[in-house]
Amino acid sequence: MLSDQIFLFSTITFLTTSAFIVLSQGSETSIANSPNDQFTASKEWTKTAIKKMWLEKKSMGYTPIHVVEPPGYENVTIVFKNESASATGSLKHRYSWALMMWALIEGHVKNGTHVFEASSGNTACSLAFMCRKLGLQFTAVVPDTIELVKARRIEKQGGTVVRVPISERLRMAEYLAKTSGGFFMNQFKNAFHAEEFHESGSSSKSSANMMHEILRQLGGVQPDVFVHPAGTGGTLSSIGRYVKKYGHDTQIVLVDTQFSIYYDYVLQGKFAEETGSHLWVRPGMAGIGYGAMGPARIAETTSLDPAVIDRVLKIPDLASTAAMKVAREIGIDGGTSTGVNFLASLHIGAVFGKRPMTIATILADSGKLYESTYFDRKWIAQSFESHGGLQVYDCWYKVIKTSYQTGEDPLEIGNAICSV
Ligand SMILES: Cc1ncc(COP(=O)(O)O)c(C=O)c1O
Ligand SMILES: *[C@@H]1O[C@H](CO)[C@@H](O)[C@H](O)[C@H]1NC(C)=O
Ligand SMILES: *[C@@H]1O[C@H](CO)[C@@H](O)[C@H](O)[C@H]1NC(C)=O
Ligand SMILES: *[C@@H]1O[C@H](CO)[C@@H](O)[C@H](O)[C@H]1NC(C)=O
Repeated sequence: MLSDQIFLFSTITFLTTSAFIVLSQGSETSIANSPNDQFTASKEWTKTAIKKMWLEKKSMGYTPIHVVEPPGYENVTIVFKNESASATGSLKHRYSWALMMWALIEGHVKNGTHVFEASSGNTACSLAFMCRKLGLQFTAVVPDTIELVKARRIEKQGGTVVRVPISERLRMAEYLAKTSGGFFMNQFKNAFHAEEFHESGSSSKSSANMMHEILRQLGGVQPDVFVHPAGTGGTLSSIGRYVKKYGHDTQIVLVDTQFSIYYDYVLQGKFAEETGSHLWVRPGMAGIGYGAMGPARIAETTSLDPAVIDRVLKIPDLASTAAMKVAREIGIDGGTSTGVNFLASLHIGAVFGKRPMTIATILADSGKLYESTYFDRKWIAQSFESHGGLQVYDCWYKVIKTSYQTGEDPLEIGNAICSV
């Protein structure tokens, strides 16, 4: 505590001094002139905003974990980090916190800054929440396919929603921010810098890194595998970096969606220059995968860091959609990425479960956000018609449901018998 205060004190002294030096270069007048007063007021606002963010962090606490022991897999324990229990209902609560904290410290967001973000809905909802806490205007640029409930949740947090084709998201958010003098938060670019990976010990200013929480909650057990897909890639990169930095024995597995370029991006270094948009097939899995938005340039259009990924998998979108239903039936009511994670975990368990293993993964948001889409048979039939529609979906559902009981590899079986 004492050292905290000393640290803060010296930081402030330093800032005040350097502000004085910069401002006094062009004028002979004293530090009490009015530009300096405004400058100081602005610093005060930011300092207060950062304090508010730490209060929010404190109230976040740890999201709960939910442990599953699939009956057919005698050696496999799956640990779901239940991020749907966060204040804004998804894994993006902690990451929007991190983005905002970063933007405040770097001076991108100041008193009165209008914040813009490109999102599939979850980041926008969480960021709208953070902006409301700080009294800032917020506008979300979302895909025109967004579920109505997701859009409503953003508006409920005081955000404005702009719908565009998914390929236009980044461009539009950037344009709107530029023309209105606001700031484009750009999670695709900036999660790379904002999502930290430090172990915070018993500090009251706890690390927001998800792996940090998981390890503490597991009381020293190191998961053998951590598995998750990537949208921006921010989540997986921050978890992977944490694991590498502290030398944990956890394999980082990226599970990619069917038409996403991330699989080849990580494995073969492709698509950093060329776009993968010609490969993209709608509707994809909301919030995850990459394809429609042009080349995946690290720390520019994506925050996925291939350096910290140990293994990559690919899963058909209809299989993931069917997995959402099976997961819901065993009490894991999650969205698109949760379905992907559930199926990938069973696959990994079937292949590597020759001895006891723990797989850590994420229940990233609630299934309730997807009632009108990935849980709706009519929507599935229409949206996934070119993938084989309900026939393929029902096949995957049966395979996953059965495998859960028998311990067989649902991915291998499904790929063999459920494709069109
Ligand atoms: C439900 C869900 N899961 C996973 C992700 C992907 O996380 P990240 O963007 O950190 O890769 C998102 C992104 O929006 C999401 O909404
Ligand atoms: C923040 O900006 C508003 C509007 O410009 C102003 O009224 C207020 O005094 C500012 N607050 C601080 C702490 O500078
Ligand atoms: C996850 O958290 C939500 C919100 O608190 C809760 O309703 C749900 O039952 C939890 N799910 C699991 C699998 O623990
Ligand atoms: C589970 O682990 C034990 C101990 O390593 C092993 O003997 C057993 O064969 C494993 N079970 C399966 C289904 O692989």
